[in-house]
Amino acid sequence: MKKRERFGSRFAVIAAMAGSAVGLGNIWRFPYVLGQYGGAAFILVYIAASLLVALPIFFAESVIGRRSGRDTYGAMQLLAPGTAWKWAGLLTILSPLLILSYYSVVGGWSVEFLFKSLSFTFTENASEAEVSGYFGHFISSTWQPILSHTLFMTMVAGVVLGGVKNGIERFSKVAMPLLFVLILFIVGYSLTLPGSRAGVEYLVKPDFSRLNADAYAAALGQAFFSLSLGVGTVLTYASYVKKEENLVVSGVGTAVSDLLFAMIAAFAVMPAVFAAGIEPGSGPGLVFQTLPYIFNKMSQAMPITSALVSIAFFLTILAAALTSAISMLEVGVAYLVDEKGMERRKATLLLAFGTWLLGVLCSLSFGPLAHIKLLGLSFFDFLDALCSNWLLPLGGVLFTLFVGWRMSKADVRDELTNGGTCNVRLFGLVYFLMRYLAPIGIVVVFLSNLFL
Ligand code: PFF
Repeated sequence: MKKRERFGSRFAVIAAMAGSAVGLGNIWRFPYVLGQYGGAAFILVYIAASLLVALPIFFAESVIGRRSGRDTYGAMQLLAPGTAWKWAGLLTILSPLLILSYYSVVGGWSVEFLFKSLSFTFTENASEAEVSGYFGHFISSTWQPILSHTLFMTMVAGVVLGGVKNGIERFSKVAMPLLFVLILFIVGYSLTLPGSRAGVEYLVKPDFSRLNADAYAAALGQAFFSLSLGVGTVLTYASYVKKEENLVVSGVGTAVSDLLFAMIAAFAVMPAVFAAGIEPGSGPGLVFQTLPYIFNKMSQAMPITSALVSIAFFLTILAAALTSAISMLEVGVAYLVDEKGMERRKATLLLAFGTWLLGVLCSLSFGPLAHIKLLGLSFFDFLDALCSNWLLPLGGVLFTLFVGWRMSKADVRDELTNGGTCNVRLFGLVYFLMRYLAPIGIVVVFLSNLFL
């Protein structure tokens, strides 16, 4: 068998893992969810959910991945041979591919909006009505969004084809620092807009009256999605981490980068939203509808800056979406390579094509297939609800139960402390969180999805 690839350095590990974590969830989803639950107070709950529940699950997945050095299915076969745990492995190969199918459609929107920014469509002589209506018009058309989805998926497959070191690691090491620079540039612009102060206040002054049970579940759900938990990406990437690497450090590094990026993105988006007088709780269209409108409005006073910021903004979304999407595809590719002995090339093309096909249906569900409903939802919304509300938490709970209750404590300690050489004092706390608080936290999300 060919020797398994490994990430080359600690920076590479964190860049790849943070690459998976930082994505549409941070720039597109976080600001509007935050807007729906009232700003600063939600941020506090979100930080607590990320550190107390999500991070321990991240550690649990890392432990399984590195201990086994295999894909999700292989890991379960190796660590719990002949048991039903293999189904957890299989489930978490399927779920990231399902997510990828609709994620790639949104990734495609960012490709389209980047092209539009590069051709100054939002910033040159377009009427306000044209710009704010563009999003609805674009996503409901037939071919254009499919074309963008195809371009996006091709880029994803291109990186995964390169392999762990030459594809994923290389791409993430460039994309991640670039993302932080770009988003800071956008924050700078956003904060100088007249009327942006109200947006900043919204983000720093907590209004606890808006926090209901729903908000807690939403915070946990968002933390899950944002850290890419429960779908085997953390597990698979951890299987490429060297034995000497400190898993706690790379986990904390990833979670902090992810949290930080979400906050910065909120400071990039919200002040601009307020400056334009738009309702912060206006939902999923927030970033794609609002931002072009703002770029258009500002272009009368600052044409060049607005055009540049518009390009930077959609490039940020695209790069962030790409680093996340490659991690979703890698889970399935690792399975086919490790377990079926398939060549990476063939595995990548096969899975990319299959998910692309499913993505086409998702894309059409905004237009020609909008009338087809599954449980009252469009195909896109159905897949998103199935994955975000059910499959992610299910995968997450299975992974923490596996590490907390099925693996021996000695093995878990060995993996998290590198044989007793680091994190020895922290271990007790981490183990407690993995064993009790994290599974209970997820069950709360499940129940709230059922009853709220
Ligand atoms: N964490 C990604 C984001 O915030 O956009 C989404 C994601 C990536 C979900 C990878 C699942 C996954 F496997």
